[in-house]
Formats: sequence, C-alpha cells, structure tokens
Amino acid sequence: MRTLHDIAPLREALLAHRMAGRRIALVPTMGNLHAGHLALVDRARELADVVVATLFVNPLQFGAGEDFGQYPRTLDSDRDELTAHGCDLLFAPGVETLYPGGLETQTQVHVPDVSEGLCGGTRIGHFDGVATVVSLLFHLVQPDIACFGEKDFQQLAVIRKLVADLHFPIEIVGVPTVRAEDGLALSSRNGYLGAEDRALAPTFHRELSRCREALAGGQSPDDALAQARQALQASGFRLDYLEIRGPALAPFDASRHTEGRLLGAVYLGSTRLIDNLAVSLP
Ligand code: PAJ
Repeated sequence: MRTLHDIAPLREALLAHRMAGRRIALVPTMGNLHAGHLALVDRARELADVVVATLFVNPLQFGAGEDFGQYPRTLDSDRDELTAHGCDLLFAPGVETLYPGGLETQTQVHVPDVSEGLCGGTRIGHFDGVATVVSLLFHLVQPDIACFGEKDFQQLAVIRKLVADLHFPIEIVGVPTVRAEDGLALSSRNGYLGAEDRALAPTFHRELSRCREALAGGQSPDDALAQARQALQASGFRLDYLEIRGPALAPFDASRHTEGRLLGAVYLGSTRLIDNLAVSLP
C-alpha cells in the first residue's frame, strides 16, 4: 500500500487507475482504525478494483471544547491494518494541505434539514465540517463508490443528501454497525472510557434493543421512548437525545410509517457515545 500526504501525487496515482478503467472506492476515516472501519475497507475491496482510504482528523468538524487535540492519532498501526485488509492507497494529508488558507476563510458546504437536530442539535456546525471535508475528498479522489458506516447514521444521511444535491456521480454504500461482543458499537472514542464506564457502556445498546422490542410489540413510540430515556438516566448515562425518525431521518409519523430508526446519544463523563437501530412497528 502506498501512503501519500500531498494532493499532486494523489491525483497522479488516481489518474493512472482511472485511465486503466479501474473502479475506485473511497473510505474516509479519521484513523485510529478498529474493526468498524475495516469492515468498510472490506466492503470497498469487494466492490471496486482500487481501494483508497483517507486518514484526516478534520478540525472543521470539531466544536470548541471538543476532543480535536486529544483525538487518537495512530498512523503506523493504521497503515498496518489497511495493508492487511488489501487497501491500495492511503491519503493522509496535513491540515495545511487540505485547508491552506486556514480554517476561518475555508469555503464550507452546508446540507440543510437533515443536518439539523439529533447530533446536529448538540454539535453545532459539525455536519458543515463533515460535508466540507467529504466534498473535498470526493473532488480529489473522484471515486465511483464511497463507503460509510451506519454507526454514524445521521452522517450517512447528510452524505446521501450532499451527493444527490451536488450531483456527485458517486454511489454511497452504507455498512452495518460493527459491535463489541457485549453490544457496544465500536468507536475510537470508546478508548476514552475508564474501566467502570466501559462496563456500563453496553447498557446503552441494551436499552436501545429493549426499546426496539417494545415498539415491535405495539407500545406507542412516546411511551417506549420515555421508558428508555428514564432507564438510561437511571443507569448513570447523561442523555443527549433519544428519538425515532422515519425514512431519510424525516420526522416519524406513526400514522404513516411502520419502519423507522431509533437514534440516541449519551454521555458517560465527558465521553459522548452514539448508536442507532432499525425499528419496525406493527
Ligand atoms: P470516523 O469516525 O473515523 O469513521 C470513519 C468511518 O467509519 C465512518 O463512515 C463511520 O461511520 C465508520 N464507522 C465508525 N465506527 C463504525 C462501526 N462501529 N461500524 C461500522 N462503521 C463504523 O466518520 C468519520 O470518521 C468522519 O466524520 C469522516 C466521515 C471521515 C469525515 O471526517
């Protein structure tokens, strides 16, 4: 696997693949790779001839007081994992390479509607930062397909809308959430959890699953959500949000929708965990 840090050699390498008629898949990441990220690489490997991963801790998507400085940076072990999973090319630019004019004056992409509420309600400007860097990576790599995890379900919806609205000729592939054996969704931020919080963390997924069962059994969304919120708080989580949304994250309308998505965010100390599950109502 080649690792490139600059734009010109990246363009050159990709042009050669494109001229040879090869199908290119992109897997954007912020590194500190775990089995969730690697499932995206595996899926990309199945669907394309050339797999390009990117590793960039994107300052534009972190708010003031968030963990940009603290975010784990593990380039050497990430490179080993990507090589083992058959990735062809890693693009790992510096901040000054992607944003040479500085962050303040950087042109940004805003995806209305689907960016609002849920994580966008708490992390103001977060999805502008995500949409901006993903647009940049789409322009630089010009992939045929790009893989994103369902773990970040709102992010996936934002990117689907971005691609539709800006007519990017890129197929977006959603990959199911990879979990630890105890059910906790894998996340680079799980590494922030101390032993006690790590032991409590899977209760989040357990309560989401219980809520999903209650909904499938005919309990009203309002009641099922109220019970789950209370159970999470009683277990020691600080609740950010727990909601049910309809297709493409539109407001859930129980009179019309039987399929939806249950999405939540909680804090354990200063660590923020997110998760989501598909739900069906009778
Ligand atoms: P990051 O958090 O590193 O995640 C990179 C990709 O891995 C995202 O598509 C995310 O949804 C996926 N992913 C993370 N944990 C997963 C899990 N447990 N199961 C399946 N997929 C998982 O998301 C970002 O980076 C950034 O916002 C990015 C899109 C790279 C833009 O900066």
